[in-house]
Amino acid sequence: MNQQRRKSSLLGALLVSAALFGGGCKDKEESKPNGTGKSGETTTTASRGNVVTGDTIKIGEYGSLTGDNSTFGISTDRGIKLAIEEANAAGGINGKKLELVAEDDNSKSEQAKTVVQKLVSSEKVIAVIGEVASSRSMMAAPVCQEAKVPMVSPSSTNPKVTAIGDYIFRVCFTDDFQAVVAAQFAWDQGFKNVAVFTDVKSDYSKAFGELFANKLKALGGKIAAEPTYQSGDVDFKAQLATIKGATPDAILVPGYYTEVGTIARQAREIGVTVPLLGGDGWESDQLIPGAGTALEGCFFTNHYFAHDLPDPNIKSFVAAFQKAYPGKQPGALDALGYDAAKVIIEALKRSKSLDSVALRDAIADTKGFAGVSGKITLDEKRNARKEALVFEIKGKEFKPKKSYKPEQVGL
Ligand code: PHE
Repeated sequence: MNQQRRKSSLLGALLVSAALFGGGCKDKEESKPNGTGKSGETTTTASRGNVVTGDTIKIGEYGSLTGDNSTFGISTDRGIKLAIEEANAAGGINGKKLELVAEDDNSKSEQAKTVVQKLVSSEKVIAVIGEVASSRSMMAAPVCQEAKVPMVSPSSTNPKVTAIGDYIFRVCFTDDFQAVVAAQFAWDQGFKNVAVFTDVKSDYSKAFGELFANKLKALGGKIAAEPTYQSGDVDFKAQLATIKGATPDAILVPGYYTEVGTIARQAREIGVTVPLLGGDGWESDQLIPGAGTALEGCFFTNHYFAHDLPDPNIKSFVAAFQKAYPGKQPGALDALGYDAAKVIIEALKRSKSLDSVALRDAIADTKGFAGVSGKITLDEKRNARKEALVFEIKGKEFKPKKSYKPEQVGL
């Protein structure tokens, strides 16, 4: 009897904690809302995922607000906040206000998974925005897929990210395109023999390097050398000496700004004078401070956004951004964060009901949305087909040099 009672109270405690952590309702078809329809109330059901039952709609965000790549998370967060604030100022969705629940993953993959678990299970958000880095998006995406909560990455470009499942979207192009553009650009510049220096700890870097090499070889070019490094390394001289010995016309470094600056400085120190080429991972206001003048005249592919492009949409975004963040200039990540949030907001307006399953379908229907980073139509693989821009580094500025449409590189 005594034991019996202890057992049942243990069971009770387990049930309470399961409910608190949001896992308890999942396998029941319908469950009661966990409140009386107050601000931020939501529930979870098996067929509808996370359901809004109160008067606010929670949207989750996870990103590198601190840690190694903090400029990625901070910039993206600014764009997301701006979109949410604009939507609320315009009255919200059907009279309900949007509430952003932002979580910091400290630039760590494991942490990305943990905070996304919290967003979908405890916060019961209706959608999740994130991450920038492909490796972190790939860690957290299965959590969203499992919980039937749509995840929209603003800027993860590794092709595998959205292949994780039908709840995973992105508002940017993939590296099947970006790396091909980089190779075509290299070829167009007369860089026919290129060294490829990748970060083996990054899913983004590895795929970018491989896709670039395939395209350059298909065009008739050669890969001079393929040494590797690991994010966090600080001494690249041995690999740079190998590269120097292979006398390439240029060096592709498809890494993040955190290492690219040091790589560029050390290359110049050992007398490597050829241009460095890169991708969107170079996008950071910390790139030039890290590199000094070592990246002068170098090139990188990026998303279709520059604050001085003559597009009226971009002009009004830049004005709104500068009002919200005086003294700051938006970059591609701010623009993509803004666009990711806007795609969700527009989908909420079209969604048949305010639950994460219906919202998934509405997001999948996104067609011709005029984003500030280009027009966004989500294809059957949940990716956006957009233009890319190649930037040249001149002094402290990134200058748009050439744009490529998918058709121009045979896609
Ligand atoms: N595309 C990079 C990745 O997939 C992330 C990134 C996007 C970084 C845009 C900077 C700017 O990992």
